[in-house]
Amino acid sequence: CGIVGYVGFRNARDVLIDGLSKLEYRGYDSAGVAVRTERGLEVRKKAGKLAILAGDLEQQPLAGTLGIGHTRWATHGLPNDANAHPHATEDGRLVIIHNGIIENYLPLKQGLIARGHAFRSETDSEVLAHLIEEKYAQANGDLEVAVRTALAEVRGAYGIVVTHVDHREIVAARTVSPLVMGVGDGEMFLASDVPALLAYTRRVVYLHDGDLVVLGQDGYRITDLSGNPQTRELHHIEWDAEAAEKGGFDTYMLKEIYEQPSALTNTLMGRLHDDTGEVDLDIDLDPSSFKRITIIACGTAYYAGLVGEYLIEQLARVPVEVDVASEYRYRQPLVSENTLVIAVSQSGETIDTLEAIREAKRFGAQTLGVINAKGSSMTREVDDVLYIHAGPEIGVASTKAYTAQVSAMLMLALWLGRARGTLDAEKGAELLRAARELPRLVEESLQPERVANIERIADKYKRARDYLFLGRGVNAPTALEGALKLKEISYIHAEAYAAGEMKHGPIALIDENLPVVVVATESFLLEKTVSNIQEVKARSGKVIAVVSDGDEEAARYADDVIYVPRAHEMVSPVVNVVALQLLSYYTATLLGRDVDKPRNLAKSVTVE
Ligand code: G6P
Repeated sequence: CGIVGYVGFRNARDVLIDGLSKLEYRGYDSAGVAVRTERGLEVRKKAGKLAILAGDLEQQPLAGTLGIGHTRWATHGLPNDANAHPHATEDGRLVIIHNGIIENYLPLKQGLIARGHAFRSETDSEVLAHLIEEKYAQANGDLEVAVRTALAEVRGAYGIVVTHVDHREIVAARTVSPLVMGVGDGEMFLASDVPALLAYTRRVVYLHDGDLVVLGQDGYRITDLSGNPQTRELHHIEWDAEAAEKGGFDTYMLKEIYEQPSALTNTLMGRLHDDTGEVDLDIDLDPSSFKRITIIACGTAYYAGLVGEYLIEQLARVPVEVDVASEYRYRQPLVSENTLVIAVSQSGETIDTLEAIREAKRFGAQTLGVINAKGSSMTREVDDVLYIHAGPEIGVASTKAYTAQVSAMLMLALWLGRARGTLDAEKGAELLRAARELPRLVEESLQPERVANIERIADKYKRARDYLFLGRGVNAPTALEGALKLKEISYIHAEAYAAGEMKHGPIALIDENLPVVVVATESFLLEKTVSNIQEVKARSGKVIAVVSDGDEEAARYADDVIYVPRAHEMVSPVVNVVALQLLSYYTATLLGRDVDKPRNLAKSVTVE
């Protein structure tokens, strides 16, 4: 979602609309502003593109020099006028913008209702508005204290921006949603991303997790959630507008690789309950009504489906088949109402997948979409949707959508396993804890020294004509996705095999010119994979081993080693693939390829 805030001397409406338009690349489906005018805090919000709101504001301008604005890329709740932000309290004296999820919103809401608050929507954001209003009264009109005490009661992840009619101030706080302040002379800006600020100032301050800031016309102060003052560095931004959209990264793809920890937080947020081992996916389908499951998808999403097959069969003991959508739709699939057909798609627009879903429905299947793009065609075709909440993905080669899809498959497997009684609470809780670790583990995978090592390896092998990727079990698809990534962006030919299958054919390819990437992280089958490494070495192949931190044994026979953080085997595909994304990325950039727009490929393929 896009956020902009302004307090200063300019017409706030112009700053807000201009800033929000610079965040357009994030995609949105509704937009709103609140401006402090002579009449009070006036809110305008509209479903649809920002231009609709801008048009409305042309017709009926709002004059004022303080305001907050928001574009929403709906994740929960429909993109309609009512669900758009900002949200105002009943008396209209306080407005808020909120990104994220309040996990304990139900008990908070019940408490507020018991104390006489009337709710107009189902949104968790409205709970925050009421809660802050209540605290504001208790704090005798201290807005900063009100926000802080309200947040102390909130569990979840949020970015929040608040203003009150009696204050020429904006109060903001963040946990996961990024916020950056722009510092001007006699004016202050706030935004979810730098491009929104660049037309006005190049002096910015990034807020950290747990920061709370009060912005006034002449300055700002930052504290933590307990009220202790915090100092944050002032940065000078040198980038041009295009570089700013990429957040200072050279390419969207690299930006998206680095966004994975926060994308995964969004995928998992509010869905895992450690204490009970339960997963809450808000899916209405009856999990005990399926006798079999078919997963259909294309490209990278297909490989996420293959991980799903492994996880669902292991944890829920239901037979799963995975098929590429272009095949499925023409092979007169064997389907009944006892079949669950899961479509995995980032865009929700891929025509092959869409047609495959229609075909499955014709035969009476129940259908579920695992989808990133809200409002996409597929979301309207399926019976139910599990959104992956990875945020907009612009680089053609999928990265953060893949890891989010795999995490979604894991949650589905847990949900099915628990509901069908094949996964006990203890094992469920163990896997939930492993899943919760994913954002942190992926963050660790992106440590500079790890990335530098991968870049060095990419450089060493960038002249290779072919690559072979091997993996086993739940990481066999990791090898496939690694090979696909390399093909897509570097144009080096690559093949992937289940490691045990190598001896039945591809072993003939091995010579001193063939780099073989082996996913050899912790697994009950690791010994067998290490034997495969030795088989490659015996034929003078070059082995690049992806190995769990500290595992000297697996690393011993490799020419080059990529160490990755230790993860539970069932969640390890998410961690391991990051190393392979980086290997492809650096191979391609060192060869001078345009990684964001690889030749012949399209982000979303809407032709057959
Ligand atoms: C295209 C893209 C791939 C993507 C595939 C499926 O071929 O180039 O990167 O994996 O479509 O896209 P979807 O949006 O359905 O996940």
